[in-house]
Amino acid sequence: MKIAMGNDHTAIEMKNAIKKFVESKGYEVIDFGTNSTESCDYPTYGEMVGRAVADGEADLGIAICGTGVGISLACNKVKGIRACVCSEPYTAKLSRMHNDSNVLCFGARVVGDEMAKMITENWLDAKYEGGRHQRRVDMVMDIESRN
Ligand code: RB5
Repeated sequence: MKIAMGNDHTAIEMKNAIKKFVESKGYEVIDFGTNSTESCDYPTYGEMVGRAVADGEADLGIAICGTGVGISLACNKVKGIRACVCSEPYTAKLSRMHNDSNVLCFGARVVGDEMAKMITENWLDAKYEGGRHQRRVDMVMDIESRN
């Protein structure tokens, strides 16, 4: 299973920690960067992660910026993406089980590495439940296709 990862300059260290963690769990990571400490723009990396997931190059994505908000907005502008900012494991788990989230976002300035690993683990281990949630996920995607 392939995970697309992207981040801005605020989140290089956290991206590396999470990348190592995700690889240790047996996933392959496609790292879209940035790997430079020079200030950059989170939409560039959010779009790359979103595109990789939407195109099927990756199964899921993880995108990190200072708060997780900017990069999640960018990911969500790619058709087919349901990116969620999660600062704790419960929301991360439920975002998979109920919302079929396909990109996980968090903030390197908000959570520490250990919390980020716990969030990531809960998200990766959770399975979409479908059933009654499918109609609502379809409704969300219908908003995208109508707008
Ligand atoms: C960069 O300073 C910061 O604005 C960015 O990492 C992110 O937090 C935006 O949402």
